[in-house]
Amino acid sequence: MSEHPVTAVIVGCGHRAVIYADYALEHPEELKIVGVADPNRERCLMAAKRYGFSVDRCYDSAEALARVPRFADAVINGTMDHQHVETSIPLLHLGYDILLEKPFAVNASEMRELDLAVKKTGRRVMICHVLRYARFYQEIKRRIVAGEIGDIINIQQAEHVSFHHLSTSYVRGKWANSEKCRTTMLLAKSCHDLDIMMWMMNPVRPKKVSSVGSRMMFRPENAPEGAGTRCTRDCPLVDVCLYSSKRLYLEHPDKWIVYVWADLEHLEHPTDEDRIDSFRNGNPYDRCIFKCDNNVVDHQSVLIEFEGGATGTFNMVGGSAQSMRTIHVIGTKGEIWGEFESGDLHISCCDPDEPELYRHEKVDLSEGGGHGGGDEAIVEDFIRYVRTGEQSLSCTAIENSIAGHLTVFLADDSREHGGEIKECHFEKF
Ligand SMILES: NC(=O)c1ccc[n+]([C@@H]2O[C@H](COP(=O)([O-])OP(=O)(O)OC[C@H]3O[C@@H](n4cnc5c(N)ncnc54)[C@H](O)[C@@H]3O)[C@@H](O)[C@H]2O)c1
Repeated sequence: MSEHPVTAVIVGCGHRAVIYADYALEHPEELKIVGVADPNRERCLMAAKRYGFSVDRCYDSAEALARVPRFADAVINGTMDHQHVETSIPLLHLGYDILLEKPFAVNASEMRELDLAVKKTGRRVMICHVLRYARFYQEIKRRIVAGEIGDIINIQQAEHVSFHHLSTSYVRGKWANSEKCRTTMLLAKSCHDLDIMMWMMNPVRPKKVSSVGSRMMFRPENAPEGAGTRCTRDCPLVDVCLYSSKRLYLEHPDKWIVYVWADLEHLEHPTDEDRIDSFRNGNPYDRCIFKCDNNVVDHQSVLIEFEGGATGTFNMVGGSAQSMRTIHVIGTKGEIWGEFESGDLHISCCDPDEPELYRHEKVDLSEGGGHGGGDEAIVEDFIRYVRTGEQSLSCTAIENSIAGHLTVFLADDSREHGGEIKECHFEKF
């Protein structure tokens, strides 16, 4: 390894970017944060203090950063979804490599634009598909590559989004209205899962996609009789509704803190009174769950046919009690299945020499850390990629992320057209 740390500037110093940038605090010999660009001045000053660089290196936007000569190897781009392409392209032209949050584009034409800019500039861009770096998914991939289950016939995946996560992000929160955030729920939440499916299938590519789904639950007409407009202000059901902001957020103040209490982030130790005041002052997470401006689906199913005939299904279901991701891959010689959260993985291989006609193995891959350890491992791999240009098995360089994103765009197009079958065209990439 090189003796100098890779230097990086944070662009969009929010919740996600700080998670990645904190790698520098644990591994100063590997990564050094040397600047920040964000219109939120408090976040910039926090970053300068936290990572120890001069306030002269605080810029008020990605655009302002792009107006000064390059002064670092890389950028960690944690802006919101619809800003990824517009903020990244000028920085690529300046010569920065980029660790870029998912989804890296919000539609196919933007995706093409960024892909072209990466090819033209020859820079290294890695997309934050952190699940590829979780040991659970890496073990599945490793066994598929080793040929343990033969050629894949079918993959079944599901992502259950808990009722409180659904409420916080996709009904009351930042990804609830596709006209405002410019992403769909499948893109914002499940581009990870479809990326995993494409990664498991690689180099076999998707050929046809179809999808159905809807916003079934959170509509004004489904509000219970007498429901108010804001839980803690005027709702008689505040102590009984499953989605009451009092029950979800005031009584669990440490959960979803970065979203629900974003307006209190300047306070070191916010009190219950601060949180009640925040609700009184218009905090959107106090809105009646049935009376928000949400328009994204709360459940969606995707059906995929791959080149050569293999098939895949993916079900995203919001509203479950627990968050859960499951996967079941069936191949010509065996199968692998498991649940990400518990880390339980099962491998069964066809074997006529065994009394049951198969060999079974169970592996425990439970692991701490954000996204099963993926949040930290992706930064480590990005540093390696920037230094050497070598791609690991998990590497989510932009060219490796196109199939997953394209599948999401086509699935949403299909859903909007009653499940119509959409063909994948890769020739433009
Ligand atoms: N990989 C994952 O598992 C994962 C998980 C959650 C969110 N995300 C993605 O991470 C991204 C960021 O989400 P977040 O919750 O951290 O957002 P955030 O709102 O906390 O942070 C975004 C930051 O960008 C700043 N910003 C706005 N305009 C800017 C500009 N022109 N130049 C520079 N900065 C600008 C904002 O002020 C804000 O501080 C989103 O795309 C989201 O979908 C990824």
